[in-house]
Amino acid sequence: MDKIIVLDFGSQTTQLIGRRIRDMGVYSEVIPGDTPLTDEILNLDGSGPDKVRGIILSGSPESVYTEEGAVPDQKIYTLGLPLLGICYGLQRMNYDQGGLVEPLPKREYGRIGVKIHSRNSITNDGLAAQFLVGFSPSFTAWMSHGDTLTRLADGFREYGISDTGYPAVVIHDIMPWFGLQFHPEVTHCERGIEILSAFVFGVCGASAGWTMEQYVEEVRASLAMRVGNNPVLLLISGGVDSTVAGALLLKTLPPDQVHLMYMDTGLMRKDETKTVKAALEKLGAKHLHIIYCEEEFLTALKGLEEPEAKRKAIGDLFITIQEREVVRLGLPDSCFLAQGTLYTDLIESGKGVGKKAHLIKSHHNVGSPLVDAKRKLGRIIEPLDKLYKDEVRRLGRIIGVDEEVVRRHPFPGPGLAVRILGEVTKEKCGILRDADAIFIEELKRRGFYDEIWQAFAVLLPIRSVGVAGDVRKYGWVLALRAIVSSDGMTADVYPFPTKDLLEISTLITNTVKDIGRVTYDISSKPPATIEWE
Ligand code: XMP
Repeated sequence: MDKIIVLDFGSQTTQLIGRRIRDMGVYSEVIPGDTPLTDEILNLDGSGPDKVRGIILSGSPESVYTEEGAVPDQKIYTLGLPLLGICYGLQRMNYDQGGLVEPLPKREYGRIGVKIHSRNSITNDGLAAQFLVGFSPSFTAWMSHGDTLTRLADGFREYGISDTGYPAVVIHDIMPWFGLQFHPEVTHCERGIEILSAFVFGVCGASAGWTMEQYVEEVRASLAMRVGNNPVLLLISGGVDSTVAGALLLKTLPPDQVHLMYMDTGLMRKDETKTVKAALEKLGAKHLHIIYCEEEFLTALKGLEEPEAKRKAIGDLFITIQEREVVRLGLPDSCFLAQGTLYTDLIESGKGVGKKAHLIKSHHNVGSPLVDAKRKLGRIIEPLDKLYKDEVRRLGRIIGVDEEVVRRHPFPGPGLAVRILGEVTKEKCGILRDADAIFIEELKRRGFYDEIWQAFAVLLPIRSVGVAGDVRKYGWVLALRAIVSSDGMTADVYPFPTKDLLEISTLITNTVKDIGRVTYDISSKPPATIEWE
């Protein structure tokens, strides 16, 4: 299968480049920008599974002329492979080839017009023409950069300029090297997909051989080979990812080899344990270990109000219980540990890929002593770690996971604890669970649920005055949150029709007696995160 490699220099939008290319049906892989390009990675003779057709150099928050600016394996300039530099990637290529990159007087951010120069003087054996097929003579691009090319390296030629007067499209006269000062992977960039397609298909000549069906077969084959006759333990959280990972194990290995462990922390959504149990049993689970540990979690959270203190207490207890229960299960050392880690989990945690990306929030479920120990022994399986959320959903459907589970909104590891601001108590969990269930049920009934990436209720640590009948009531304040997103890295507020919001609010306050007031969170990410804590 043809493959496009994306060298990640740390831009927040790097993973979108990989996404867009896969959406075109071409397999792409994002790897840290300074990865040595071994024969195994490149597979240029086509003897391995994936043959590299081109390399994309991503953007970065750093500057090429500083020490922080990561440098690619200089071999990329000797391979004769098509290269596409995006933002920092273009600056990197120009700088590495002897050109000059300097700070702009003022950082450029947002939508900026680009004009392509007359095409009379096109060189580069027709490749430049192939690339420029993707462009219209003038269009609105999306930029985010503090540096610019102030002198082009020998062989580079400017083909497009920004309305602010800086080089925006650069192509080498002889080598198949292309550069964009803007971000075609961002949806706000006009013709962004066409530009990337022109590179992938027109310049690299890649063929679209990546389908989810095919990927499922590959993953299953490599899973079966790696695991052999050994047992596998999977920690199930109840979310889409770990459930799909569980389904993949159950559909690939004899069910007797598959041990699924699930903790009911008491911080789950309404009926979560019931739903997960039913789904996994339907998929043929034979060894499903459900650990009821609500009391332990509530005790650990007692008196804690700070978000990070709560997250840490939960993370620590997860680990303690995990280790205790694994010992209790008595599985042999040869046992593999599987996880439903997604590609974006690795990125947001700053692990594996995106080494240079600035860390936003550490998700405790990516690492634990058990995970680290198994990783050291080479006994970790993360069958979804190359997939994005919606790809996991597609995979889940292919292998027969219930639609109700597959379409479920994401849910954070620490559960309701990060949606109850301040101290977490059993009573508050009950109130939030009921209100959240009403909200979600209404979204499904009104046909909004599948348009929304994630929706939930948040219980605020304040009470406000109201009336119930003729009686003064002092009830909790609830915030509703509903966002649209493609991967949770950025998010926009879901624009509800007012009528629906009003009706849902009334339904909640009429049904959950402890809630006196409902608000709607109208913050996008950034600057807010999706969860409140
Ligand atoms: P934030 O709040 O960082 O969330 O914008 C982005 C996405 O990640 C989920 N989230 C978590 N998921 N463990 C998880 O498995 C966690 O600790 C965690 N914290 C946030 C959040 O629900 C959203 O989908």
